[in-house]
Amino acid sequence: MTPRLAPFLLLWIPLALAGLGLGAGVEFMRAGDALQREGTTLHRIVSQRVEQHDAHLTSLAAVLASSNAESASFRAVIEAMQRFYPRIAAVELIETAPSGGMLPSLRDFDPAALAARVAALVPGQAVTLPSRTGSPFYALVKRVPDAGHGPRALVLVIDARLLTEPEGGLPDDAALKLSDTAGAAIVQQGWPLSAGSWVPELSFEKALGSRSQPLALALARRPALAELLPPGLLLGWPIAAGLSLYLLLTVLRERRASRRAREAVRLHEHDARLAHAMRVNTVGEMASGIAHEITQPLTAILSQSQAGLRLATSGEATPGELVGVLEANVRHARRAGEILERLRAYVTRREPQRQPNDLNRIVSNVVELSQRDLQERGVTLRLQLSEPGPQALLDRVSIEQVVHNLVRNAAEAVEAMPAARREIVLATRLADGEAEITVTDEGPGIAEADMARLFEPFFTTKSSGMGLGLPLCERLVEAAGGRIFVRNGTERGAIFSVRFPALATEFGVAAE
Ligand SMILES: Nc1ncnc2c1ncn2[C@@H]1O[C@H](COP(=O)(O)OP(=O)(O)OP(=O)(O)O)[C@@H](O)[C@H]1O
Ligand SMILES: [Mg+2]
Repeated sequence: MTPRLAPFLLLWIPLALAGLGLGAGVEFMRAGDALQREGTTLHRIVSQRVEQHDAHLTSLAAVLASSNAESASFRAVIEAMQRFYPRIAAVELIETAPSGGMLPSLRDFDPAALAARVAALVPGQAVTLPSRTGSPFYALVKRVPDAGHGPRALVLVIDARLLTEPEGGLPDDAALKLSDTAGAAIVQQGWPLSAGSWVPELSFEKALGSRSQPLALALARRPALAELLPPGLLLGWPIAAGLSLYLLLTVLRERRASRRAREAVRLHEHDARLAHAMRVNTVGEMASGIAHEITQPLTAILSQSQAGLRLATSGEATPGELVGVLEANVRHARRAGEILERLRAYVTRREPQRQPNDLNRIVSNVVELSQRDLQERGVTLRLQLSEPGPQALLDRVSIEQVVHNLVRNAAEAVEAMPAARREIVLATRLADGEAEITVTDEGPGIAEADMARLFEPFFTTKSSGMGLGLPLCERLVEAAGGRIFVRNGTERGAIFSVRFPALATEFGVAAE
């Protein structure tokens, strides 16, 4: 049992999209954490480097104090410093005397601003001066004690690109910026990030803790779509979700089907119990019906016999009187026998012997059987037989019994009618592939209220009827694969018809 496609897709598509969205979100957060880690590491390294600059200046100032700017030891310290620390692009001692001129290594810096800074510093104090040309250098200026010509300062020119060079490397697409307190960038690589992608930007920003070099380091990057939706997630999740959903829907469908099957079994059992209850009920009704029917002749026999006994013992009875009593007993006993015989016919389930039969022949046999009874009741029979006779597969004896019952009911219905209406029409015909026998009378017809109950066992409107004729007919007709109908005539009387699937006649397939 497989789930249907539409509900599957309806659940799978949102599930796959939600899973991919969630996965991309997790990857984005992971990339954010990585950038924070890389930023923190780089910040620590750059902070250490700028602290080294302060230390360099301190040691240079110390060397200067013990010798002079031209001394070999001062030059040697500077040389070693630049060899070990390539980011220190230049080391200068400036003296802002009018003859001082601008050193080539300091041409990126505004001389007036530099002089003003130096003048404003107290010995031992250091400040940062950004380049005026936008080059990635800054000057770290430290005032040292004067030597008679005017204020003196040591200047380190720092290559900020080398200063911010990461040790472990940053992702290729990461942007970097080192800016001063005014927000002006000293170094910017890949900054700002290009817009265009809908993926949000990740960023890291932190000021360096140095007092002499109050700079801020910032990193930013925008993860690529392929990084947020790696192929494993992009393919794996929809497939896994699809398979799980498929299994889930299959299990649910099977559970629903088995629940329906159990429900069907339960209903079937309920039906069976109901049918059993109805059978028990019918048996009960029949038993009371039998008791009722048999009681009548038995009571009659009892009272007749008691009367006969009294006559016989009185010694005054004539033979004629006793014969009369005995004859009445015989009649009642016969009646009881008949009742039991009819009940037996109703109750026993003889296996029908179904053979091809001509309905015209069945009708003729019934006519022969009923002739005397009809004559006695003053009822005439008219035949309307279609030629050739319709053929059907049925048990002849039981259908003769059916037609006989219908003719007897019709005769009983017209018996009390004026002579002109004491006629019964027996007809056969082929209609819509069915072979049909109808019994039409001109009696009183059937009351609307009785219509639905005619085929119930023991339903009768006759004083001496048992109400078993029509139920028996119905049972026999259905056993032969046929149906029995009743309707009132358009003007008067009742029309009973029995129909069976027609067999092909010798003139071809059954047709009207
Ligand atoms: N041709 C008919 N015209 C009018 N009423 C009919 C006709 N045939 C049957 N009925 C009604 O149907 C009832 C049931 O008929 P059914 O043959 O089952 O029983 P019954 O004739 O009363 O008794 P029995 O068991 O002796 O046949 C009858 O009592 C009668 O009211
Ligand atoms: Mg009857």
